Amino acid sequence: MPSELSCSGKKRERLSIPKSAVIRGCGAYYPERVLSNADLEHMVDTSDEWITTRTGIKERRIAAPDEASSDLAMKAAQKAIDMAGWEIDDIDTIIVGTVTPDYMFPSCACTLQGKLGAKNAVAFDISAACSGFIYGLSLSRALLVSGQARRILLVGVETLSRIVDYSERSTCVLFGDGAGAVVLEGSPEPDVGVKSVAIGSDGVHGELLYMPAGGSRNPATHDTVEKKLHSMKMNGNEVFKIAVRGMEAISRKAIDAAACTIDDIDLFIPHQANFRMIDATAKRLGIPEEKVVVTVDRFGNTSASSIPIALDEAVRDGRIKEGDMLGMVAFGAGLTWGASVVRWEGPAR
Ligand code: UT7
Repeated sequence: MPSELSCSGKKRERLSIPKSAVIRGCGAYYPERVLSNADLEHMVDTSDEWITTRTGIKERRIAAPDEASSDLAMKAAQKAIDMAGWEIDDIDTIIVGTVTPDYMFPSCACTLQGKLGAKNAVAFDISAACSGFIYGLSLSRALLVSGQARRILLVGVETLSRIVDYSERSTCVLFGDGAGAVVLEGSPEPDVGVKSVAIGSDGVHGELLYMPAGGSRNPATHDTVEKKLHSMKMNGNEVFKIAVRGMEAISRKAIDAAACTIDDIDLFIPHQANFRMIDATAKRLGIPEEKVVVTVDRFGNTSASSIPIALDEAVRDGRIKEGDMLGMVAFGAGLTWGASVVRWEGPAR
């Protein structure tokens, strides 16, 4: 191994800088309680038929009253760490994508770090809503190939049930709670693992999907609570149109950047917001339905956790094998979007 001089002039081993970032393990956790379309029929003026035909969702999971995002995240994270065969102390960076942290501050990543006892890690959140996992993948790759991090835990987690207004039928039927995690490390091989990531955002359209109160614009008052401003508001039609176009464009960009074609993608893992959005995006890209992972029917839209939950399911049921090329794409509040092409490596041999 080559050596270098430290600041004090002493000779020390130089750590080689990796050429790529690979995913070594994944994990998912979703709460036990199921909220079905039939349950929602008793809560708002809706029907199983409307929800199924407009969204493809049949049920979603809801966190228990004593479960916060870091609790869900911890269970998914532990599974990813176990799959990789790592120790908690191996992790030097924890990144969490979420818009529903346990508290406004500290970050959900720091709360998770404390629970895991990951004393060697630096921990921070990314706020990119449904694109949080892809943003996290982009940052993880940059940290690993620059040598700033060696082993990263990346989590997407949401307890959206805490910010959903269950008297508002246009949103309450859509969202659910869950967590998904991956662990990544650098590799000396140049052409493996995360082959490309492309991300984008457009703050002009921020109010198409947002939570008006609780921040510095509208701090909590009796009035904000009475007006239900601490729950999410969405212009679903507009988001739908922009999202489908945006997910197609960013997917093409990521596939180009990975120097591959649509046909090279073995499995497509889109953000799970609405089956019609998934279907329309896949059709625009010319990806056949048998290559598309769908979990939205069972979990609804779980925002930042939807891609890693779907990834974990496909890895554990054998649909994803070592060397498979995966296409992932997300779109969410911000507005934010992102796509990635990943060669699945799995645990180191
Ligand atoms: O993660 C990224 C962020 N979010 C999204 O990606 C969501 C994107 N948008 C969507 O998925 C869809 O736009 C929705 C599922 C939210 C709505 O579907 P849509 O086909 O765009 O319906 P719409 O909003 O145009 O509403 C059609 C009708 C309306 O009634 P009128 O005005 O035609 O009489 C709504 O009031 O459906 C009504 N409606 C409902 N009816 C029964 C809205 N929600 C419901 C409901 N049950 N839950």
